[in-house]
Amino acid sequence: MSSVIPYGRQEITDEDIQAVVSTLKSDFLTQGPAVAQFENAFAKFVGAKYAVAVNNATSALHLCALALGVRPGQKVLCTPNTFVASSNCILYCGGDVEFVDIELNNFCLDLDLLEKKLSSAPKGTYAGVVAVDFAGYPMDFRRLRKIADQYGLWLIEDACHAPGADFQTSDGQWHRSGSGEFADLSVFSFHPVKHIATAEGGMITTNSQKLYDQIKYLRTHGITKDPKELTRNDGGWYYEMQSLGMNYRLPDILCALGSSQLERIEKNLQRRRQIASKYAQAFHGLPIQCPNSESTIRHAHHLYVIQTDRRTELYNFLKSQGVYCQVHYIPIYQQPYYIEKYGKISLPQMDKYYSKALSLPMFHAMTDSEQDFVIAQVKNFFQSATLSKESTP
Ligand SMILES: Cc1ncc(COP(=O)(O)O)c(C=O)c1O
Repeated sequence: MSSVIPYGRQEITDEDIQAVVSTLKSDFLTQGPAVAQFENAFAKFVGAKYAVAVNNATSALHLCALALGVRPGQKVLCTPNTFVASSNCILYCGGDVEFVDIELNNFCLDLDLLEKKLSSAPKGTYAGVVAVDFAGYPMDFRRLRKIADQYGLWLIEDACHAPGADFQTSDGQWHRSGSGEFADLSVFSFHPVKHIATAEGGMITTNSQKLYDQIKYLRTHGITKDPKELTRNDGGWYYEMQSLGMNYRLPDILCALGSSQLERIEKNLQRRRQIASKYAQAFHGLPIQCPNSESTIRHAHHLYVIQTDRRTELYNFLKSQGVYCQVHYIPIYQQPYYIEKYGKISLPQMDKYYSKALSLPMFHAMTDSEQDFVIAQVKNFFQSATLSKESTP
C-alpha cells in the first residue's frame, strides 16, 4: 500500500507503456494515425457519430463554445457544482454565465428550477445550457433536450465524469452519456484522476456533422487545406487560415495511451461500481449520506461523494491518517473571480451541499486493502466521536 491514499489516481499498465513506446518509434508523434484510431474507438464506445480528440477538456469546452457561436452579451445557464472550466468556456468567448441551483438527489443541475427560470424570462434571454453529469451520474438529457428545444437553446454536456454512464427513459430505452443523441456537444477529460488517463487530454463527441467539421477546423488554427474551401490555390503546399482557431491537438503518443486505456474501461467501470457498493454497505448506520442508488441509471462513479454534518473534521482526521479526500466542488459563484464579475450569489441547495460534501477515494486501481483502510478510518472517526460523547459527564 502506498503511503497515502488519494481521492483519485491513474493506472498505467505494461500494455499502456508498450502502446506509447511503439508510437514514439513510429513516424508520427502528432497528427498521425493514432488520433483517428482513438477518436473512432471513443465514438463507438459512447455511441456517437463523431469524436474529436483535444489536448484537455478545458480546450474542448472552449471549442464547443466557439463552435456554438457564443459571443459577448449572450447569457448561458450553468450548474455551479462543477470544475470552473465548465463555465469559464463561456467567459472566454465574452458571454455571461448564470447559475441554476442543483438537485439534492443527484447534485446535478435542477431541471425543475431550470424550467422555472426559463419560463419566467422573456424568450431569447438565454442562448444555451452547460450541464454536468456530476461525479458520473448520467443526467436525464432527454428531458433537458425537450426543455432546450422549447426555448431554442443549445446544450453542452460536460461528461468529464461520466464515460460509460447510462440512463433509462420511461420507454425502457437506455441512453449513454455523450452519445450525441440529446446534447449538441459532449465533452470528456483524460486528466489522471479520470477513468482514462492520458496526462492531459480530452474528447468532444457529437452527432452533428456541421459542428464536427467546425470543431476539427478550430482545433488546428482555423486552417484548411480542403480544395473546396480555399479562396485560391497556389499549389500543393497551400493552406488558408479562415477563422481564428487554436492549437488544441492531442498528440499521437497520448492518443495511443488513451486507446490502450479505453480497452479496459468496461472492466474498470465494474470495479468502480463494486467499490461504490462496498462503501454503501460499510457505512450503513453511520451519520453519513451515501449517493442514492437508482435502478434507472448506471453510474460511472468518477467520484464517491458522501455528505456529513462533520465534513471538515472528517476531512482533517482522514488526512492525518493518510487518506487524502477532496471536496467537489466549491460553488463556482464563490470563486473570487466570479464574485468580482457578478457580485455575491447564494443558491441554497448548492450552499447546503457544499457545507457537507466530501469525496472519498474512488479509483479503479484502488486495492481491497486500501478501501478497507479507508472504511476503517471513517468508522474510527465516528466511533471515537460516540465514545467521547458517552464518556462526557
Ligand atoms: C467537470 C469537469 N469539467 C472540465 C474539466 C476540465 O478538464 P481538463 O483538466 O481535462 O481540462 C474537469 C477537470 O477536472 C472537470 O471535472
